[in-house]
Amino acid sequence: MLKPLAITFLTTSLPWLGAVHAASVSSTPAQTFHGIGGSGAWWPNDLYHFPDTVRQNLSSLLFSPSGLGLSSYRYNVGAGGVGVSNPTRAPQTFYVSPGVYDWTRDAAGVYFLQEAAKRGVPHLTAFANSAPAALTSNGASCGGTFVRGTGAAYGTYLADVVAHFRAQGVNIDLVSPMNEPDSSFGPTPCGQEGMQVQPSQRPEVINGMYNALSAKGLTSSVGILADESNNLSNAGNEYASWLPQVLDRVAAIVHHTYDFPSDASYSTYISNTKNAYPSKVTWMSEICCSLGNPDGTGKGWSQGYDPTIKNALMFAGLVFQSLVLASEPHYDFWTLVSNQLGCSPLNNPSCPTTANSNGWNDGLIYYDPNYATNKNYAIYIKKQFWTYKHFGNFVKPGSQRHPIIGSDANKFTMAVADASTYYILAMNPNAADTSLTLTFPDAACATQAFRTSATEDFTQLSGAVKSGSSWALALKGTSLTTYIFDRTRSC
Ligand SMILES: *[C@@H]1O[C@H](CO)[C@@H](O)[C@H](O)[C@H]1NC(C)=O
Ligand SMILES: *[C@@H]1O[C@H](CO)[C@@H](O)[C@H](O)[C@H]1NC(C)=O
Repeated sequence: MLKPLAITFLTTSLPWLGAVHAASVSSTPAQTFHGIGGSGAWWPNDLYHFPDTVRQNLSSLLFSPSGLGLSSYRYNVGAGGVGVSNPTRAPQTFYVSPGVYDWTRDAAGVYFLQEAAKRGVPHLTAFANSAPAALTSNGASCGGTFVRGTGAAYGTYLADVVAHFRAQGVNIDLVSPMNEPDSSFGPTPCGQEGMQVQPSQRPEVINGMYNALSAKGLTSSVGILADESNNLSNAGNEYASWLPQVLDRVAAIVHHTYDFPSDASYSTYISNTKNAYPSKVTWMSEICCSLGNPDGTGKGWSQGYDPTIKNALMFAGLVFQSLVLASEPHYDFWTLVSNQLGCSPLNNPSCPTTANSNGWNDGLIYYDPNYATNKNYAIYIKKQFWTYKHFGNFVKPGSQRHPIIGSDANKFTMAVADASTYYILAMNPNAADTSLTLTFPDAACATQAFRTSATEDFTQLSGAVKSGSSWALALKGTSLTTYIFDRTRSC
């Protein structure tokens, strides 16, 4: 009876194999990181009216190392908000007429752009949801389309905006002329700005942008991002019809992931795009608004506010998917700050810390939607703020990912190295505590760790524990921990 014997052997061996949890950091770097960030739409229009102490605190929470330490900020170049029903989502435009601008407009957006610059955020993107109303098909900032023949005028406007800020020391280095070009976000009255740009029109938008930057000698200092498609499946289907015509004028191919792709679909998108356009990197420039579990099950576009570790780890899993599975160099979350709490903090003090189905997971920091009438200027930090801080603080531009290899390498674990330090970001999405034994390819001496869990917000802990020639990293249930190692010495 050979068969039953073999089965007995396998079942007794499996638990032993599963308990090993050992892996190594590869000596060969993968991608070099470019930035971790998020967008300035549309909260600046509200937060600008908060007391200055709060605006300064918020700026530190977003842009300073003591806060998220973001290395990317996306400034929304307004199209005037014509046709947009929600005033918070109707940013002013500098555009008056061709070549005539009113630089006093959009004081709210400009304030936080300047705060980002002042606090040293190295990558600043100017992105637009629509051309100024005067240039679109319906004379509005949403519900219409790009008009053939306006590429030069639109590009000139955006290049003038970029040049204006650069002259003030706000070094915008990326520009994105069409955010989610597949939708007009109409009909009017619309919930936000938007302008449909057909795939066949996208080369004109890119060429207009490039030529205008070129006329100012800015093509080597300001890169063009395109096309910010809503999702990977749509993006991948459309590239062939426009991208080859302007490939050399695009700095990076950027996408959103509102289809919440499986690992298999994301990998397919990456390999197809790399095969067709090997000279270009792709990156993630917008995501929000999902419920779901720490291991990623149940994710998908949906309403609902969840300020707990459950949702914070689900979103951390999306960052790992883009940076580890897809090996992309840059990641931007969507609006950073939101009023979509779904409840009233003054009526119910537990509102900001309790999940509800009326709000939205579109921010890391929240504020009272009724602040203008009730004068509640408090800001509320969601657990996702603390998990995103691991990426903002430890995945810095110029550092490199080193793959973690071995049979127990985990898709939620990432090694980041600069010349002097290894950062191991490790997430345990399960309830049970585990431990990972990690081996390094060269010198490494544990220094300290930071952990975010149900009860800890980026809490400082002692470092990993030496275990022979390896290091033992304790991974508490449902947590994200970063273990830091000095690369300049062994110990
Ligand atoms: C992908 O984007 C397209 C264009 O905006 C949209 O029609 C489609 O519904 C999206 N698909 C998913 C799964 O989000
Ligand atoms: C900033 O806001 C956070 C969140 O509300 C709060 O915990 C912190 O005390 C504030 N800091 C300052 C300096 O006001």
